[in-house]
Amino acid sequence: MSSSLVYYEILFILIFVLLNNNFAFNQYFAMHSHNDRIRRAATARAERLWDYGVIPYEIEANFSGDHRALFKQAMRHWENHTCVKFVERSLDHPNYIVFTERPCGCCSFVGKRGNGPQAISIGKNCDKFGIVVHELGHVVGFWHEHTRPDRDDNVQIVTKNIMSGQEYNFNKLTEEEVNSLGLNYDFDSIMHYARNTFSKSTYLDTILPQHDPTLNVRPEIGQRVRLSKGDIAQTKMLYRCPSE
Ligand SMILES: *[C@@H]1O[C@H](CO)[C@@H](O)[C@H](O)[C@H]1NC(C)=O
Ligand SMILES: *[C@@H]1O[C@H](CO)[C@@H](O)[C@H](O)[C@H]1NC(C)=O
Repeated sequence: MSSSLVYYEILFILIFVLLNNNFAFNQYFAMHSHNDRIRRAATARAERLWDYGVIPYEIEANFSGDHRALFKQAMRHWENHTCVKFVERSLDHPNYIVFTERPCGCCSFVGKRGNGPQAISIGKNCDKFGIVVHELGHVVGFWHEHTRPDRDDNVQIVTKNIMSGQEYNFNKLTEEEVNSLGLNYDFDSIMHYARNTFSKSTYLDTILPQHDPTLNVRPEIGQRVRLSKGDIAQTKMLYRCPSE
């Protein structure tokens, strides 16, 4: 993904936070922060997961047949590997996602917003399978992997290489905000930034994965090909998918 696409995606999330729904955004984070039932019982928080893992969708009428096929293929990919289901929206579904095109380019709300339709914007330069799968990851309820509270044990953020004004995209979240459900940091996640995301220059790293001690190589990050094993495992835990 080019850094400008990521930029638009993050910008959209930021705008969402600042103008739209800061409170719900924070509640969303908080919802994932504790496994224990007492905390999770807070009703305002539980609202960010899709009921029964069912995500109703609508595709705006003016997308081409190729685009519709692409979106369906990306949804099928999630369904192939997790218990999350995408269904065409009917009148029984007050909350649903709408594939659309917004000025942000490629962007999405994170989790279920809970007050009617919510946009998943697929712009001209991000109509690629892996990017649609990534955006659907936000819909399902995931933030970017490098914002995990334990990220400093796994990646180094090279602040001096970050495009001026974009530093906030590398903020680390607290355990009050993110719960990784006990799973290891996942370099291979489709939700991970690339090494040069928001870089001042393509050849300068903003995120350096730490060497794998057994191989002495830096793990690859930023793939947009498929869900990783970790993405699949975490989704199954988040939505309590029945074991096969
Ligand atoms: C669909 O129509 C809307 C409104 O006219 C426009 O903003 C958007 O770019 C169009 N989308 C596509 C895929 O042509
Ligand atoms: C979904 O699974 C089917 C059956 O294994 C496979 O043929 C198809 O390519 C998969 N599609 C995606 C998008 O993962």
